[in-house]
Amino acid sequence: MKVLGIMGSPRIGGNSDVLLSHALTGAKATGADVEKIIIDRKHIAGCKDCKKCNTTGVCAIKDDMAEIQTKILEAYAIIHSSPVYFWAMTSQMKAYLDRWCVFFDAEWRWQKIYYPKMRGKRIGLITVCGDSNVKTADPIVHSFQSTVEMTKMHWLGTVMASANDIGDIVKNESAIQQAYALGKKAATP
Ligand SMILES: Cc1cc2nc3c(=O)[nH]c(=O)nc-3n(C[C@H](O)[C@H](O)[C@H](O)COP(=O)(O)O)c2cc1C
Repeated sequence: MKVLGIMGSPRIGGNSDVLLSHALTGAKATGADVEKIIIDRKHIAGCKDCKKCNTTGVCAIKDDMAEIQTKILEAYAIIHSSPVYFWAMTSQMKAYLDRWCVFFDAEWRWQKIYYPKMRGKRIGLITVCGDSNVKTADPIVHSFQSTVEMTKMHWLGTVMASANDIGDIVKNESAIQQAYALGKKAATP
């Protein structure tokens, strides 16, 4: 069983990264294999809405998303982690999420070839914002949760934290415990 972590901040070792690591530690403690992908280190272009994938199930853009797509299909659960940038997810995370188009047909149903592996896929989310009000990250939650609900995946929930400077999150014991618990939940059938 693999739990995949998708790290959406360009700040490696930053707050989203630290929380995602704790989530993956929780998943590992529950017996899962874990892998973290730092999307800022990958080449992921924005979706061009060419719609070729709607019929082929293959993205026309040849970049690192192809290998990530394979890992998404194989993962038992996926935990995403993103800071808030201007009341939204980072551009890196958005480029990644938009490329999920490859999994769908023209009616936003799973491609038949992907349905068996994507149906019920367990999806969790970690957000970090500089604002003391963690609800500042609600637009990110809305994007991921709506995607999960529209496509009948399985929503594991969120950890929403507040932190500013790199490393600030280590002072937030509660967020660290919640991230660990999210990882455990992700790996628990
Ligand atoms: C370009 C940019 C835009 C940001 N916009 C917001 C924002 O709209 N609201 C907010 O609360 N924090 C905002 N922040 C602060 C980050 O969310 C915060 O510093 C967070 O801890 C960064 O997480 P990281 O360490 O995982 O990169 C912004 C930071 C940057 C660099």
